[in-house]
Amino acid sequence: MVKGCLFDLDGVIVDTAKYHYIAWRDLAKKLGFEFTEKDNERLKGVSRMASLEILLEVGGIKGLSDDEKQRLAAEKNENYVKLISQMTPDEVLPGAADFLKQLRTAGIGVALGSASKNAMTILNRLQLTPLFDAIIDGTKVSKAKPDPEVFLKGTEALGLQPSECVVFEDAAAGIEAAIAGGMRCVGIGSPEILGKANLVVNGLYEMNLEKLKLE
Ligand code: BG6
Ligand code: MG
Repeated sequence: MVKGCLFDLDGVIVDTAKYHYIAWRDLAKKLGFEFTEKDNERLKGVSRMASLEILLEVGGIKGLSDDEKQRLAAEKNENYVKLISQMTPDEVLPGAADFLKQLRTAGIGVALGSASKNAMTILNRLQLTPLFDAIIDGTKVSKAKPDPEVFLKGTEALGLQPSECVVFEDAAAGIEAAIAGGMRCVGIGSPEILGKANLVVNGLYEMNLEKLKLE
């Protein structure tokens, strides 16, 4: 029986990829190269510093010091935070709020498992914070997905075993993390990318308590 659900944020509950893209694209422009939407696909589910490394690789920029990299990541984040500070609750992806409410009504634990250090800002802007029993974000973990740390901390915070929980993820690394942690998982997006999940749907609007049994 499923007793808890763990949700990735970006790409599952809200589409922040478009804001990450604007902020990274602007940074690339300042550095003198073009960063395309296709390049941006490689950043989904990837931590901030790992994203910067990919951006620098695209631009062919080598040999920056750690301090310089930290400065660039901070500059991108400042721009990104300005963008997400304008978000409104109508940006919650279709069906997400309804599904979270269904879970709560059924007594199923709800936790966030996100790599983002800005998760609290986003959840507060979307007015979703009260729907979560536990929030594990990028400020609380040291290992990025596909390491299962973020989801294992989520199950712990819910007081549940991994085998009692289901993870919802849009990134292949997130599906790997769920499997590595001993959880079942639902992929949000394309079966070609998320084929290892127990079930793949187009969005949370396709989910309900019956489908959650994953039979
Ligand atoms: C993930 C996103 O959820 O969070 C990545 O999919 C992002 O694109 C990562 O890089 C880290 O986010 P932040 O907000 O801490 O820079
Ligand atoms: Mg995601």
